[in-house]
Amino acid sequence: MPINVCIPGISGKMGIEIAKLVLLDASNMRLSSGVVRDQSKSIESLSSLDNKIISEDLEQAVSDCDVCIDFTRPEYSMKILQACVTNNKKIVIGTTGFSKEQIKKIENASKKISILKASNMSIGINLCLKIVENISSSIGDISDIDIIEHHHKHKVDMPSGTSLAFEDAIKNNLVNKKDVKHHCLRVGNVVGDHMVKFTLENESIEINHRSFDRKIFAEGAILASRWISNKDKGLYTMSDALSL
Ligand SMILES: NC(=O)c1ccc[n+]([C@@H]2O[C@H](COP(=O)([O-])OP(=O)(O)OC[C@H]3O[C@@H](n4cnc5c(N)ncnc54)[C@H](OP(=O)(O)O)[C@@H]3O)[C@@H](O)[C@H]2O)c1
Repeated sequence: MPINVCIPGISGKMGIEIAKLVLLDASNMRLSSGVVRDQSKSIESLSSLDNKIISEDLEQAVSDCDVCIDFTRPEYSMKILQACVTNNKKIVIGTTGFSKEQIKKIENASKKISILKASNMSIGINLCLKIVENISSSIGDISDIDIIEHHHKHKVDMPSGTSLAFEDAIKNNLVNKKDVKHHCLRVGNVVGDHMVKFTLENESIEINHRSFDRKIFAEGAILASRWISNKDKGLYTMSDALSL
Protein backbone atom coordinates (compact mmCIF):
# COMPACT_ATOMS: atom_id res chain seq x y z
CA MET A 1 0.00 0.00 0.00
CA PRO A 2 1.45 3.44 -0.91
CA ILE A 3 1.79 6.13 1.74
CA ASN A 4 -0.78 8.87 0.98
CA VAL A 5 0.73 12.32 1.39
CA CYS A 6 -1.07 15.64 1.91
CA ILE A 7 0.84 18.89 1.23
CA PRO A 8 -0.79 22.07 2.60
CA GLY A 9 0.89 25.15 1.08
CA ILE A 10 1.59 23.14 -2.07
CA SER A 11 2.01 26.40 -4.03
CA GLY A 12 4.92 27.53 -1.82
CA LYS A 13 8.62 27.14 -2.68
CA MET A 14 9.01 24.03 -0.51
CA GLY A 15 5.51 22.71 -1.25
CA ILE A 16 6.33 22.59 -4.97
CA GLU A 17 9.71 20.87 -4.41
CA ILE A 18 8.14 18.21 -2.19
CA ALA A 19 5.20 17.63 -4.55
CA LYS A 20 7.61 17.19 -7.49
CA LEU A 21 9.57 14.56 -5.55
CA VAL A 22 6.44 12.68 -4.45
CA LEU A 23 5.14 12.70 -8.04
CA LEU A 24 8.49 11.62 -9.53
CA ASP A 25 9.67 9.26 -6.82
CA ALA A 26 6.32 7.51 -6.52
CA SER A 27 7.83 4.33 -5.09
CA ASN A 28 5.44 3.59 -2.27
CA MET A 29 4.22 7.22 -2.08
CA ARG A 30 1.19 8.92 -3.53
CA LEU A 31 0.18 12.60 -3.50
CA SER A 32 -3.36 12.30 -2.18
CA SER A 33 -4.03 16.04 -1.69
CA GLY A 34 -2.56 19.52 -1.83
CA VAL A 35 -4.04 22.63 -0.22
CA VAL A 36 -3.88 26.18 -1.60
CA ARG A 37 -5.28 29.46 -0.32
CA ASP A 38 -6.80 30.37 -3.69
CA GLN A 39 -7.69 27.57 -6.08
CA SER A 40 -8.25 29.95 -9.00
CA LYS A 41 -4.46 30.55 -9.23
CA SER A 42 -2.76 27.69 -11.08
CA ILE A 43 0.65 26.39 -9.98
CA GLU A 44 2.65 26.65 -13.21
CA SER A 45 5.37 24.16 -12.35
CA LEU A 46 2.80 21.57 -11.26
CA SER A 47 0.35 22.04 -14.14
CA SER A 48 0.18 18.29 -14.67
CA LEU A 49 -1.62 17.88 -11.33
CA ASP A 50 -5.12 16.53 -11.37
CA ASN A 51 -7.44 19.36 -10.25
CA LYS A 52 -9.24 16.98 -7.92
CA ILE A 53 -6.09 16.69 -5.79
CA ILE A 54 -5.78 20.46 -5.17
CA SER A 55 -8.34 22.18 -2.97
CA GLU A 56 -8.87 24.96 -0.42
CA ASP A 57 -10.42 22.50 2.05
CA LEU A 58 -7.71 21.68 4.61
CA GLU A 59 -9.88 19.39 6.76
CA GLN A 60 -10.97 17.22 3.81
CA ALA A 61 -7.42 17.10 2.37
CA VAL A 62 -5.95 15.94 5.69
CA SER A 63 -8.67 13.34 6.21
CA ASP A 64 -7.64 11.67 2.90
CA CYS A 65 -3.93 11.18 3.80
CA ASP A 66 -1.63 9.02 5.92
CA VAL A 67 1.06 11.68 6.46
CA CYS A 68 0.75 15.46 6.21
CA ILE A 69 3.88 17.47 5.26
CA ASP A 70 3.81 21.05 6.55
CA PHE A 71 6.18 23.73 5.20
CA THR A 72 4.04 26.87 5.59
CA ARG A 73 3.83 29.60 8.28
CA PRO A 74 3.42 29.06 12.05
CA GLU A 75 -0.17 30.35 12.32
CA TYR A 76 -1.31 28.08 9.48
CA SER A 77 0.75 25.17 10.88
CA MET A 78 -1.38 25.35 14.03
CA LYS A 79 -4.52 24.79 11.90
CA ILE A 80 -2.85 21.93 10.03
CA LEU A 81 -1.78 20.39 13.34
CA GLN A 82 -5.33 20.60 14.69
CA ALA A 83 -6.69 18.95 11.52
CA CYS A 84 -4.13 16.13 11.97
CA VAL A 85 -5.15 15.63 15.61
CA THR A 86 -8.88 15.63 14.72
CA ASN A 87 -8.31 13.08 11.94
CA ASN A 88 -5.62 11.10 13.79
CA LYS A 89 -2.97 11.62 11.06
CA LYS A 90 0.81 11.73 11.26
CA ILE A 91 2.60 15.00 10.48
CA VAL A 92 6.08 16.11 9.40
CA ILE A 93 6.63 19.77 10.38
CA GLY A 94 9.31 21.72 8.51
CA THR A 95 7.86 25.19 9.17
CA THR A 96 10.07 27.45 11.29
CA GLY A 97 9.55 30.53 13.46
CA PHE A 98 7.20 29.08 16.10
CA SER A 99 6.55 30.95 19.37
CA LYS A 100 7.02 29.18 22.72
CA GLU A 101 3.23 28.77 23.03
CA GLN A 102 3.03 27.21 19.56
CA ILE A 103 5.86 24.78 20.40
CA LYS A 104 3.96 23.81 23.56
CA LYS A 105 0.89 23.05 21.40
CA ILE A 106 3.01 20.83 19.15
CA GLU A 107 4.37 19.00 22.21
CA ASN A 108 0.85 18.48 23.56
CA ALA A 109 -0.41 17.22 20.19
CA SER A 110 2.42 14.65 20.13
CA LYS A 111 0.70 12.91 23.07
CA LYS A 112 -2.07 12.04 20.59
CA ILE A 113 -0.39 11.68 17.16
CA SER A 114 3.07 11.04 15.63
CA ILE A 115 4.97 14.25 14.85
CA LEU A 116 8.42 14.70 13.33
CA LYS A 117 9.57 18.32 13.64
CA ALA A 118 12.88 19.61 12.28
CA SER A 119 13.94 23.17 11.50
CA ASN A 120 16.26 21.75 8.87
CA MET A 121 15.60 18.45 7.12
CA SER A 122 18.93 18.18 5.30
CA ILE A 123 21.17 15.24 6.16
CA GLY A 124 24.23 17.52 6.16
CA ILE A 125 22.85 19.97 8.74
CA ASN A 126 21.79 17.13 11.02
CA LEU A 127 25.32 15.70 10.86
CA CYS A 128 26.71 19.18 11.62
CA LEU A 129 24.40 19.40 14.67
CA LYS A 130 26.00 16.22 16.04
CA ILE A 131 29.52 17.56 15.42
CA VAL A 132 28.61 20.87 17.11
CA GLU A 133 27.28 18.95 20.16
CA ASN A 134 30.63 17.13 20.45
CA ILE A 135 32.75 20.27 20.06
CA SER A 136 30.56 22.17 22.54
CA SER A 137 30.96 19.53 25.21
CA SER A 138 34.75 19.52 24.85
CA ILE A 139 35.72 23.19 24.33
CA GLY A 140 32.41 25.14 24.33
CA ASP A 141 32.92 26.48 27.84
CA ILE A 142 36.32 28.02 27.04
CA SER A 143 35.66 29.41 23.53
CA ASP A 144 33.77 32.31 22.00
CA ILE A 145 30.89 30.89 19.96
CA ASP A 146 29.28 32.59 16.97
CA ILE A 147 26.57 31.40 14.57
CA ILE A 148 26.71 33.08 11.17
CA GLU A 149 23.94 32.58 8.60
CA HIS A 150 23.06 33.84 5.10
CA HIS A 151 19.56 33.44 3.58
CA HIS A 152 17.52 34.89 0.71
CA LYS A 153 15.92 38.27 1.39
CA HIS A 154 12.34 36.88 1.50
CA LYS A 155 13.03 34.72 4.57
CA VAL A 156 10.80 35.95 7.38
CA ASP A 157 12.28 34.51 10.59
CA MET A 158 15.62 35.70 11.97
CA PRO A 159 17.69 33.97 13.34
CA SER A 160 16.73 30.98 11.21
CA GLY A 161 15.24 27.86 12.78
CA THR A 162 18.50 26.10 11.92
CA SER A 163 20.59 28.70 13.77
CA LEU A 164 18.33 28.29 16.81
CA ALA A 165 18.78 24.49 16.57
CA PHE A 166 22.57 25.05 16.57
CA GLU A 167 22.18 27.32 19.62
CA ASP A 168 20.25 24.56 21.45
CA ALA A 169 22.84 21.95 20.45
CA ILE A 170 25.57 24.20 21.90
CA LYS A 171 23.80 25.29 25.12
CA ASN A 172 22.66 21.76 25.97
CA ASN A 173 26.31 20.67 25.97
CA LEU A 174 27.91 23.43 28.08
CA VAL A 175 28.60 23.17 31.79
CA ASN A 176 28.04 26.90 32.41
CA LYS A 177 25.52 29.23 30.80
CA LYS A 178 26.94 31.59 28.17
CA ASP A 179 25.76 33.79 25.32
CA VAL A 180 25.97 32.54 21.74
CA LYS A 181 26.04 35.39 19.23
CA HIS A 182 23.94 35.28 16.03
CA HIS A 183 24.99 37.11 12.85
CA CYS A 184 22.27 37.04 10.17
CA LEU A 185 22.39 38.28 6.57
CA ARG A 186 19.33 38.37 4.27
CA VAL A 187 20.72 38.72 0.75
CA GLY A 188 19.99 37.73 -2.85
CA ASN A 189 18.71 34.26 -3.55
CA VAL A 190 20.81 32.33 -0.99
CA VAL A 191 19.10 29.01 -0.14
CA GLY A 192 20.83 28.77 3.26
CA ASP A 193 24.42 28.96 4.55
CA HIS A 194 25.26 28.32 8.21
CA MET A 195 28.56 28.46 10.07
CA VAL A 196 29.24 27.73 13.75
CA LYS A 197 32.56 29.20 14.82
CA PHE A 198 34.36 28.27 18.05
CA THR A 199 37.21 30.70 18.74
CA LEU A 200 39.97 30.03 21.31
CA GLU A 201 42.91 32.30 22.11
CA ASN A 202 45.09 31.18 19.17
CA GLU A 203 42.92 29.00 16.93
CA SER A 204 39.38 28.55 15.69
CA ILE A 205 37.16 25.72 14.47
CA GLU A 206 34.48 26.46 11.87
CA ILE A 207 31.67 24.05 11.03
CA ASN A 208 30.22 25.17 7.75
CA HIS A 209 27.17 23.98 5.80
CA ARG A 210 26.01 25.33 2.45
CA SER A 211 22.71 24.43 0.76
CA PHE A 212 22.87 24.67 -3.05
CA ASP A 213 19.30 23.57 -3.72
CA ARG A 214 15.98 23.40 -1.79
CA LYS A 215 15.77 19.83 -3.00
CA ILE A 216 17.86 18.71 0.01
CA PHE A 217 15.05 19.77 2.38
CA ALA A 218 12.41 18.13 0.19
CA GLU A 219 14.42 14.89 0.11
CA GLY A 220 14.68 15.04 3.90
CA ALA A 221 10.92 15.62 4.19
CA ILE A 222 10.25 12.54 2.05
CA LEU A 223 12.66 10.46 4.13
CA ALA A 224 10.96 11.74 7.31
CA SER A 225 7.48 10.94 5.94
CA ARG A 226 8.43 7.38 5.07
CA TRP A 227 10.06 6.95 8.49
CA ILE A 228 7.13 8.31 10.51
CA SER A 229 4.48 6.43 8.53
CA ASN A 230 4.75 3.41 10.85
CA LYS A 231 5.68 5.15 14.11
CA ASP A 232 3.51 5.41 17.21
CA LYS A 233 2.47 8.77 18.69
CA GLY A 234 5.32 10.92 19.98
CA LEU A 235 7.55 13.85 19.07
CA TYR A 236 10.50 12.89 16.85
CA THR A 237 13.39 14.73 15.19
CA MET A 238 15.47 14.18 12.06
CA SER A 239 18.13 12.60 14.30
CA ASP A 240 15.64 9.82 15.07
CA ALA A 241 14.81 9.32 11.38
CA LEU A 242 18.52 9.26 10.45
CA SER A 243 19.53 7.12 13.49
CA LEU A 244 22.20 9.70 14.44
N1 LIG B 1 12.76 22.42 7.82
C1 LIG B 1 13.42 22.69 6.70
O1 LIG B 1 14.31 21.94 6.26
C2 LIG B 1 13.05 23.93 5.92
C3 LIG B 1 13.64 24.20 4.69
C4 LIG B 1 13.20 25.32 3.96
C5 LIG B 1 12.19 26.12 4.48
N2 LIG B 1 11.66 25.84 5.70
C6 LIG B 1 10.55 26.60 6.26
O2 LIG B 1 9.36 26.20 5.59
C7 LIG B 1 8.43 27.29 5.60
C8 LIG B 1 7.95 27.57 4.17
O3 LIG B 1 9.04 28.00 3.39
P1 LIG B 1 8.87 28.39 1.84
O4 LIG B 1 10.17 28.93 1.42
O5 LIG B 1 8.27 27.24 1.09
O6 LIG B 1 7.79 29.57 1.97
P2 LIG B 1 6.72 30.06 0.88
O7 LIG B 1 7.25 29.92 -0.48
O8 LIG B 1 6.29 31.43 1.36
O9 LIG B 1 5.49 29.04 1.03
C9 LIG B 1 4.58 29.05 2.12
C10 LIG B 1 3.30 28.35 1.70
O10 LIG B 1 2.40 28.32 2.82
C11 LIG B 1 1.15 28.87 2.42
N3 LIG B 1 0.50 29.57 3.54
C12 LIG B 1 1.10 30.37 4.45
N4 LIG B 1 0.17 30.85 5.32
C13 LIG B 1 -1.02 30.35 4.93
C14 LIG B 1 -2.35 30.48 5.43
N5 LIG B 1 -2.63 31.22 6.52
N6 LIG B 1 -3.35 29.81 4.78
C15 LIG B 1 -3.07 29.06 3.70
N7 LIG B 1 -1.83 28.90 3.17
C16 LIG B 1 -0.82 29.54 3.79
C17 LIG B 1 1.49 29.86 1.32
O11 LIG B 1 0.33 30.12 0.55
P3 LIG B 1 0.24 31.54 -0.26
O12 LIG B 1 1.22 31.36 -1.41
O13 LIG B 1 -1.19 31.62 -0.67
O14 LIG B 1 0.66 32.59 0.70
C18 LIG B 1 2.56 29.07 0.56
O15 LIG B 1 1.96 28.13 -0.28
C19 LIG B 1 9.17 28.45 6.26
O16 LIG B 1 8.82 28.47 7.63
C20 LIG B 1 10.63 28.10 6.09
O17 LIG B 1 11.46 28.70 7.07
C21 LIG B 1 12.07 24.76 6.41
